[in-house]
Amino acid sequence: MKLARIALSALVSAAALAAADASAQGRLNLYCSVQEDWCQLMQTEFEKATGVRVAMTRKSSGETYAQIKAEKDNPRGDIWWGGTGDPHLQAAEENLTAAYESPRMGEMQDWAVQQWKTGRQRTVGIYAGALGFGFNTELLAKKSLPEPKCWADLVKPEYKGEVQVANPHSSGTSYTMVASLVQILGENGAFDYLRKLNVNVNQYTKSGAAPIVAAGRGETLVGIVFMHDAITQAVRNFPIKTVAPCEGTGYEIGSMSIIAGARNMESARRFYDWALTADAQALGAKAQSYQVPSNRNAPTPPQAPRLSDVKLINYDFQKFGSSDERKRLLTRFDAEIKISN
Ligand code: G6P
Repeated sequence: MKLARIALSALVSAAALAAADASAQGRLNLYCSVQEDWCQLMQTEFEKATGVRVAMTRKSSGETYAQIKAEKDNPRGDIWWGGTGDPHLQAAEENLTAAYESPRMGEMQDWAVQQWKTGRQRTVGIYAGALGFGFNTELLAKKSLPEPKCWADLVKPEYKGEVQVANPHSSGTSYTMVASLVQILGENGAFDYLRKLNVNVNQYTKSGAAPIVAAGRGETLVGIVFMHDAITQAVRNFPIKTVAPCEGTGYEIGSMSIIAGARNMESARRFYDWALTADAQALGAKAQSYQVPSNRNAPTPPQAPRLSDVKLINYDFQKFGSSDERKRLLTRFDAEIKISN
């Protein structure tokens, strides 16, 4: 009996010690908006490097923005890493995220620093990638369809029911498409285009990269996604060809923000500083994510689409990342494009 009590108290103090140890190392609630494989790799490598225990939740960019907003009086997340820059900028404008200047800022590309300035130091660029689409080459041959090369091709009647894209509310990829089309075609032109595209769309997915995964498996012919997401499927040996639309296209500055009122502020800053290092940024390619990293010393993966070969528009992040503009465009999308999911 006495022995049992001693054993029990030893166990209790061991557990107390372990808990104290974990809190000494710290904890981190990470909201992650890139592909699951990369999110998991970031989680485990940061834990290995620092001993901080990480709880990771992966959701699309628009969904994570909405969650942070819903939790603003009682923040549950500490840091939001990845996902398109527009909703990060919107969160910054609404003071849902906290200003921070990392000692690593001197190593960043200009576009990453510019994002930080636009977001009043509340968000920073971690990678860049151009929007485009990909198609299944085997399905194309089977259906005897011509190769789509331009945005204009995707609304042609021969591609009826053959295109998949995400929902712009949940997905930053899809919001980037809407904002890019507005910048290429003018706002009314873009909404005309989106109405025509709607006829050809077989499904609006929640996550931005899902359409190209579906294309790889032959469930849709075309997926509108970031070009690097199409390349991932080709690297995985799916019959996917990646297209940079002939009219030109928009791009994302994938971003990172510390959540205002984070309970684990110190861990959030540690993660932020670590995520900006060249070594941490090189993890993307290991997870088969081929964005251009924002640290000038991080190698750009050889598979990454060369942004210099793509006709990039001069995307206005200030405007399309502003709270009013994003809300307005999404409201107009709902009013004019009747989607069923
Ligand atoms: C993929 C891309 C990222 C992008 C993200 C946005 O993970 O590889 O570059 O930032 O999608 O996700 P979402 O689901 O919000 O469109």
